[in-house]
Amino acid sequence: MPSRETWATRMGFILAAVGSAVGLGNIWRFPFQAGAEGGAAFLFVYLGFIALIGFPAILVEFVIGRRTKRNPVGALKELGGDRWKYVGGIFVVTGFVLLSYYSVVAGWFFQYFITGLFEGYTATTPEELGAAFGAASSGTSALLAHAAFMIAVTGIIVAGIRSGIEIAVKVMVPGILFILLGLAAYGAFAIPEASQAYAYYLQPDFSVIAENWQTLLPAAAGQAFFTLSLGMGVMITYASYLGEDRNLAEDAAVIVSLDTFIAVLVGFVVFPFIFQAGADPTEVGPDAIFVSLAQAFATIPGGRLLGVVFFGMVVIAALSSAISILEMLASYLIDEFKWERPKAAAAAGLAVFVLGIPVTIDLVFLDLFDGLADSVLLVLGALLVVLFVGWVIPEDGLDELTTGVENIGSLGSIWLWAVRIPIAIVLVISLYLGATGYLEFLADDFLGWLNG
Ligand code: PHE
Repeated sequence: MPSRETWATRMGFILAAVGSAVGLGNIWRFPFQAGAEGGAAFLFVYLGFIALIGFPAILVEFVIGRRTKRNPVGALKELGGDRWKYVGGIFVVTGFVLLSYYSVVAGWFFQYFITGLFEGYTATTPEELGAAFGAASSGTSALLAHAAFMIAVTGIIVAGIRSGIEIAVKVMVPGILFILLGLAAYGAFAIPEASQAYAYYLQPDFSVIAENWQTLLPAAAGQAFFTLSLGMGVMITYASYLGEDRNLAEDAAVIVSLDTFIAVLVGFVVFPFIFQAGADPTEVGPDAIFVSLAQAFATIPGGRLLGVVFFGMVVIAALSSAISILEMLASYLIDEFKWERPKAAAAAGLAVFVLGIPVTIDLVFLDLFDGLADSVLLVLGALLVVLFVGWVIPEDGLDELTTGVENIGSLGSIWLWAVRIPIAIVLVISLYLGATGYLEFLADDFLGWLNG
């Protein structure tokens, strides 16, 4: 067997992990979750979850990956025996489900990019905007865009770690950051409604948390995992290509900070446009960003260029995330079934494409898949690996955390303690709330839809 590839540089690993973390989660999902769950109140709970849970949890995945240098299924089997390999199996299922709708949504952004490029944004009334979104989000064009996106993702994974992923993210991640900073500056100086938007986004009304904690807590926890690509073994996979000389905690801190910075920055870009378009931020759904931004781009001077830049950037961000999921799936097929990389990537890519087809037919499948992946599977996966490292292999975990490090003082034992008890408890509560919410959705909305 050829020796396993590794990242060429530390920067390559960090950018790949940031590229995985920064994606539709930050740009599309975050604003509508925040908008629906009280704006600033959501932001504050979310930031708390990132620091107290996201950071320790990403380290859990890093230690598993670098310790074993395997795909998530093989890694858990090696460390925990046959019983734990099924947890890896959950990751594989989650990966398929998540990437299938992720790619469809990325395809919507791709179409808005193409529209800007060739026609410009012309819809301004709610009817026109809704019709444009309807045309992009379902039917043939949605299917074609989904296919195009998956072909690009598969191509990068066929090329491999160094000449595929690492080269791609070195261009993409700095580009995303640069464009977002520019758009945020534009919002601050050129959009009169910006101050109203910032107030909604930044001044928390803590009574919202007290009243809505049952939906706000799982939404914020789910978003924290989603945005950091946690709970499905992607970070295990990326860390499996790491050398022993890296300081995992330091790399994790850089990755988490950059992802969080970008998520917060997106709020500064998106909310001014939403307020300018006169949309109600609490009413926003998965379509809001398309409707309100397309309206803004149709009316403001230079809007077409801004739109092309914005939608193009989102596609790139989605691409750098999607490759991490397909890489996880492919690494499973390569390691466990000894498939060649091109075959593994193509088979996984094709399966994801097929699974995503229903989402291009009816948006109820978006809720079905997103709810399953985000409120249930990601939290379940995160809970299980956290318990695994905290209680089953604590010595290995601690040893791996301190490999390549001079001295981290008591950080290691604090980490282990946090992982064992408080984080596990928060995850159990989030999983309970998330799963109950999802069952309600199945019983009401989905059954209702099935019954026509
Ligand atoms: N973190 C990515 C985003 O924010 C999505 C993702 C989730 C990627 C899980 C990989 C694993 O868009």
